[in-house]
Amino acid sequence: MNDPSNHDRSAEGDVNRSPRRKRWEAEHLGTATRALLAEDAKHFLHQSLSTPCWNALRSASGIWLEDVEGRRIMDFHGNSVHQVGHGHPRVVAAVKQALDTLPFSPRRFTNAYAVSLAAKLAALAPGDLNKALFAPGGAEAIGMALKLARIATGRHKTISMWDSFHGASLDAISIGGEAVFRRDIGPLLPGTEHVPPCDPRACRFGCGGSCDARCAGYVEYVLAKEEDVAAVVVETVRSTDVQVPPRAYYETLRAACDRHGALLILDEIPVCLGRTGAMFAFERYGIVPDMVVLGKGLGGGVFPMAALVVREGLDVAADRALGHYTHEKSPAGCAAALATIEVIEAEGLLERANRLGAQALERLRSMRARIPAIVDVRGIGLLLAIELADAGLAEEVLYRCLAKGLSFKVGQGNVIVLAPPLVIEERDLETALGIVEAAIRDG
Ligand SMILES: Cc1ncc(COP(=O)(O)O)c(C=O)c1O
Repeated sequence: MNDPSNHDRSAEGDVNRSPRRKRWEAEHLGTATRALLAEDAKHFLHQSLSTPCWNALRSASGIWLEDVEGRRIMDFHGNSVHQVGHGHPRVVAAVKQALDTLPFSPRRFTNAYAVSLAAKLAALAPGDLNKALFAPGGAEAIGMALKLARIATGRHKTISMWDSFHGASLDAISIGGEAVFRRDIGPLLPGTEHVPPCDPRACRFGCGGSCDARCAGYVEYVLAKEEDVAAVVVETVRSTDVQVPPRAYYETLRAACDRHGALLILDEIPVCLGRTGAMFAFERYGIVPDMVVLGKGLGGGVFPMAALVVREGLDVAADRALGHYTHEKSPAGCAAALATIEVIEAEGLLERANRLGAQALERLRSMRARIPAIVDVRGIGLLLAIELADAGLAEEVLYRCLAKGLSFKVGQGNVIVLAPPLVIEERDLETALGIVEAAIRDG
């Protein structure tokens, strides 16, 4: 059997079984935590990237997690559900109210929470992105998008990106591009072609670190060769290591899809609703996709919620089941999503993500100028990355920061990804960046 630790470095997630990890555990975990972790390992199936767990939590509030030993940890990972922070009072109150009055809405009934959310998403989304379908998770919503693309175009092929992640279900890993999810699992969906992503530091087309959209041009080349591709599926901004393509990339993709009759499906599951400083990340690019998939923070960090939002003209599958999920119109989930959007609007979180993100990026640039171990910094809104020359250092920095009360994720082995809640106070963001800087400098 493959040892998962051989693969985790270059895949989404952190290192699970390294000596550094063991040292950190020995130094930081007390008896109560160890007992709970042992029970966790006993009762749950073990899987790469999520077992064994780091630590055990007892509460979460705002930007903070609290572990069972009472240590507070700033959450700059949050599995991308935490735009409004953990347990935002408005979100919690909205969910409680839904639970008190309409805890479940059986299929074939509708409810005001679900209708209001669909209407709100249509009002927020530009162009004629007016039709929605909800699902309990991102991978399911991606699956709905793939089915609808097949039905709408009468074609089944897709083009997606190596290194991308679209969820862990079989259809989602077929279009995903990370080996840790795809290897040794048997046949995947047919017709799922992959191309190199926009990744200027590792560009296969020789852009020299500053994307000139040749990678998007290659997508058009494949579209033209294949002639019968249903959809191009892309993470608007790849969140695992923060890849932010230039405007020309999406202009080229949009035009290529139009020319070749393919749909453009944007996966914004981890970056929707403010993370990039816009409600929808694609708004930063001046294009409108045929479908956008939302998730994670849509449920306000308290409820599993995802949504497929598509152009009006794609409402063409009335005689098929696209989703058919039990919790499709969950009143509590929809109440959480509505309250989350209200908080983003009422608290000016888009503007906040842009302002704090710009300040933070400035600081990262100055760190880069002073610290040779940093080879690149990048960001969009409050999604920031520090790329280090060395994966070993990235892992060391991770455990040093955890010890100082800051949690984040390492992507592609050497990229520190910082995604604070958008409600973070300026001084807390400064403190966190100080912790990261000291951890890298002391490396
Ligand atoms: C870009 C992207 N797409 C899809 C998913 C899958 O979402 P879920 O875990 O809700 O199935 C994720 C989750 O990390 C993601 O980051």
